[in-house]
Amino acid sequence: LSSIRVDISGVEPGTQLTVKWLGKPVFVRRRTEEEIDLAREQDAADYPDKFARNPNVDATVSAEDANRTMDENGEWLVMIGVCTHLGCVPLGDGAGDFGGWYCPCHGSHYDVSGRIRKGPAPENLHVPVAEFIDETTIKLG
Ligand code: FES
Repeated sequence: LSSIRVDISGVEPGTQLTVKWLGKPVFVRRRTEEEIDLAREQDAADYPDKFARNPNVDATVSAEDANRTMDENGEWLVMIGVCTHLGCVPLGDGAGDFGGWYCPCHGSHYDVSGRIRKGPAPENLHVPVAEFIDETTIKLG
């Protein structure tokens, strides 16, 4: 099955759901106001990876937080949970030096927007093809 529907009705702010899609973990995070503010006040121009890595928008779009989230407000961040270095699964829930995700395999730190900020990973965590079907359902693929 190449596309799946994810029920997000039980996901509270500040928590995330991990689902399996095409053999990979996908993180569905519902961010708090603080996380959104932090992600959006940051200027991504100087970050290691300049691109949004979001197939739902143009490939050349920059890594600003607004280009990576599912919704305009930035509450929902959906990403493939595979480190862009060598493919380990990063730890979440505020892990690492930037309050986002941390890959323990070789020490890559991703921020609250899933952007690589420190460590060997070359790219931001990838956003999968995804869309809202209704208020509480996200379709992956
Ligand atoms: Fe994540 Fe190497 S696989 S840092």
